[in-house]
Amino acid sequence: MSRQPYDPAREGAQMSFRERMSYSDYLHLEKILDAQTPLSTAHDELLFIIQHQTSELWMRLAIHEIRSAKVAIRDNQLQPAFKMLTRVARIFEQLNSAWDVLRTMTPSEYTEFRDSLGQSSGFQSWQYRAIEFLAGNRNEAMLKPHAHRAEVIAELENILAEPSLYDEALLLLSREGFDIGPDAKRTDWRQSRQASDDVLAAWKAIYQAPAEHWALYELAEKLVDFEDYFRRWRFNHVTTVERIIGLKRGTGGTAGVSYLRRMLEVELFPELWKLRTEL
Ligand code: HEM
Repeated sequence: MSRQPYDPAREGAQMSFRERMSYSDYLHLEKILDAQTPLSTAHDELLFIIQHQTSELWMRLAIHEIRSAKVAIRDNQLQPAFKMLTRVARIFEQLNSAWDVLRTMTPSEYTEFRDSLGQSSGFQSWQYRAIEFLAGNRNEAMLKPHAHRAEVIAELENILAEPSLYDEALLLLSREGFDIGPDAKRTDWRQSRQASDDVLAAWKAIYQAPAEHWALYELAEKLVDFEDYFRRWRFNHVTTVERIIGLKRGTGGTAGVSYLRRMLEVELFPELWKLRTEL
């Protein structure tokens, strides 16, 4: 007796989508899968494009989560904020693992299509700047590469007009009765703030008595977790870049590895790192 080939339709699998929304309709897969346009015939250019595009998709989610975490902290809703910040750290962990795929590309392979990139570079990633600005690393000079796109400038300006994630955490400390010094009176959010001894003292008091300030202590650790994974992303990037282009200039025009090494020194939440030496 011959066995009928297995047909999942017999168990109810939906097989007709002429009048129904399908998986690819919902996800707009045609658009996404139509967005890879290598400019050379080099085999590895597709890897390069997909690596950047997937990173941008994860960044989009990170922005969504950080924005909502900021609002939650402002509204004293710390539990949802913790959940969102945990997700942001996991997104960066995911992006960190992704470097392993890109590292399979050798300098010889990258050289085959590097000229096709022209002056384009991740330096012009406005979503990356949005993440930095949202977290609290603000530098108006980084707006310039986007001057030709009014909608991007408007988006970044909106972020600069409001307190950052760290500013919201500091304002919460103030509402909880901690003296955070001049940070409590800020009204202009456009520039990165300077680290302050008052804020350091406030976080230190929290870390010296975690049981008394558990929610703020947990918030601090969630922020450190986020920055920890973000730092690893920067470190993985610069190491991969050195492995692939050595000490050549970047396509975006910076000195390349030395510029990226300088960025390793950026601290998003400086007092949270400094307090560790003082405990
Ligand atoms: C072959 C792989 C890569 C090389 C050789 C490379 C190289 C560079 C270089 C040299 C810079 C400094 C700016 C410049 O002069 O161009 C830079 C910046 C940047 N790259 Fe990459 N990159 C690579 C992959 C990636 C990937 C996969 C991403 C993910 C989105 C990325 C995101 C960025 C970002 C966000 C910056 C700005 C960093 C900052 O200003 O702090 N890069 N890259």
